[in-house]
Amino acid sequence: MSAVRGTLAVLTGGGDCPGLNAVIRAVVKTALHNGYEIYGVANGFHGLIEDDMRLMTLADVSGILPRGGTVLGTTNRDNPFRYAAGEDAEGNVIYEDKRDVVVRNLREHHIDCLIVIGGDGSLKIGYDLNRYCGVNVVGVPKTIDNDLPGTERTFGFDTAMAMATEALDRLHTTAESHHRVMVLEVMGRYAGWIALHSGLAGGADVILIPEIPYDIESVIRKVKERQEQGKQFSIVTVAEGSRPIGGEMTVARLVKNSFEQIRLGGVGNKLADEIEARTGIESRCTVLGYLQRGGSPTAYDRVLSTRYGSAAVEACMDGEYNVMVALSANHIVRIPIEKVAGQPHKVPLDSDLIRVGRNLGVCFGD
Ligand code: F6P
Repeated sequence: MSAVRGTLAVLTGGGDCPGLNAVIRAVVKTALHNGYEIYGVANGFHGLIEDDMRLMTLADVSGILPRGGTVLGTTNRDNPFRYAAGEDAEGNVIYEDKRDVVVRNLREHHIDCLIVIGGDGSLKIGYDLNRYCGVNVVGVPKTIDNDLPGTERTFGFDTAMAMATEALDRLHTTAESHHRVMVLEVMGRYAGWIALHSGLAGGADVILIPEIPYDIESVIRKVKERQEQGKQFSIVTVAEGSRPIGGEMTVARLVKNSFEQIRLGGVGNKLADEIEARTGIESRCTVLGYLQRGGSPTAYDRVLSTRYGSAAVEACMDGEYNVMVALSANHIVRIPIEKVAGQPHKVPLDSDLIRVGRNLGVCFGD
């Protein structure tokens, strides 16, 4: 039997996302095919802290390419640098630093490099593990929001966009039948990528994104203008992070101990109520929610995920650590992992997609 060339580990962190299993499959297959052994870490950084990892085989990744979710499990809590170990008598969370535990566990399994498949929170932890503890890390950019700096595309975005587009198609027929205004609230956090792409793909009349605070007057004008043109219904796509000019984003809840505590949500219902009150047209809101994250990835996301997973292992094989694999001009490149600590990748105001929308008469709320 030939000697093992090296030992890798892979984890998935943060919210789940279509394509995670496709990345895991590509990582495991590429590693094994090239003579490496690879550990799968359970439930993100929790598994690193608890030493919950095991060597993966081809059988572990058989049939998972089209499957949603992650066979490894995930969590958006359990930061090793600020691990919530319990609560004191007053109910305050007690945090512990678990970085030494993580380093010890990685050493005990002789892991040369940790592949982190995650969004900004998990990749930032990966970056810190390198910066402060010397752990070799390679990142893979995951999120349906497409808001990670340093890459043109994150995997999962295409699937979320397709789901939102299908929802808009379905809303069109019921809006038209009932002469209603239909508002679709989509995810995206502080960026409007999902709303913008699905809004264009689904022919929305109004697209509201966080990058362009909206004036409700402008939205009302658009709905009324359509009525005057004989269009008795209107379709509005609103990103969860959208806010009125001079107003705040709508926060649904705060999640204690999460990498990022704020959870957005609720702007769609507010908007539908306001449109109905101001125009007298029956208005309804649909919050697409986790349907954007669950289920099978599109063919595009399967290919992108497979490219990313394979490229992450190639970086390990080349000994080029502390990079994130990224998409640039449709080529897979490696960028320094510290780039993820930068500003989120938002829709630029001079985006041609916004210009195209305006050319078609789409209202962006400004
Ligand atoms: O970042 C992905 C995402 O789905 C966002 O679009 C959304 O705001 C958030 O995660 C929801 O997080 P949670 O799963 O913690 O509710």
